Amino acid sequence: MTISTKIHRFDDDGALFAGAADAVVSAAVESIRERGRFVVALSGGETPAGLYRLLAQPQYRRRVDWNRCEVFWGDERPVPPGDEQSNYRLARELLLEPVGVPGANIHRIEGERADLPAAARDYAVEIARCFGVSTTSAPPSFDLVLLGLGGDAHVASLFPGTAALDVTDRWVAANDVPRLSTVRVTLTFPVINAARAVFFLVAGGTKAAALAATLADSGDPVRFPGRRVRPADGRVEWFVDAAAAPDTR
Ligand code: 6PG
Repeated sequence: MTISTKIHRFDDDGALFAGAADAVVSAAVESIRERGRFVVALSGGETPAGLYRLLAQPQYRRRVDWNRCEVFWGDERPVPPGDEQSNYRLARELLLEPVGVPGANIHRIEGERADLPAAARDYAVEIARCFGVSTTSAPPSFDLVLLGLGGDAHVASLFPGTAALDVTDRWVAANDVPRLSTVRVTLTFPVINAARAVFFLVAGGTKAAALAATLADSGDPVRFPGRRVRPADGRVEWFVDAAAAPDTR
């Protein structure tokens, strides 16, 4: 099955963020027009900071009815919500507070909990409640899942060779990541692949090898988890800069 994959290559990360911001706004406007709301799972890490700052600027902010946005995360670190490592904190400070997403529409992963498997289960319940389904139903379709790409090719917190790569019966998992000596809560592939759209943001030369291997015609989906992002009825769009994608083929 071939899915629709588009690669948008930009000269630098500033242009990448502008391209991605336009695409996110378009996805939000279309979702709100067609379904009355926009349900998005945000990415963590550093790269999306530039996108979030831009979306909070008037030329983008005024194009979206932020009251109709339901905001989730693709993954979270095992830290409190105010921690500088928190994916929730990054998005709250740079985007959600500036644009005024209502608190009731912000659904964070409780990374601070000692029992992360329980936090993962509770997050799946939160997702199910937002979509009006049960956690035993087929995974619901986010309008957009934003993802980054690690230098080791991980996506969300689905790291190469880790157990969560093979989770098919749950929407959210607490994933043991031995390389980082940590456990992270992450959406699983069934949820990611139920999305209407998945946007990857990849910037910088440190990602070039991971990006090339992830996009290659063939490769190991255990070593390169991004190769498993194949939304059945959705589209995948890559927003990359020249440093991450030097090959102009
Ligand atoms: C996280 C992210 C993760 C991120 C990549 C890239 O919690 O770290 O969700 O999947 O997207 O690690 O991170 P950078 O954008 O910081 O390079």
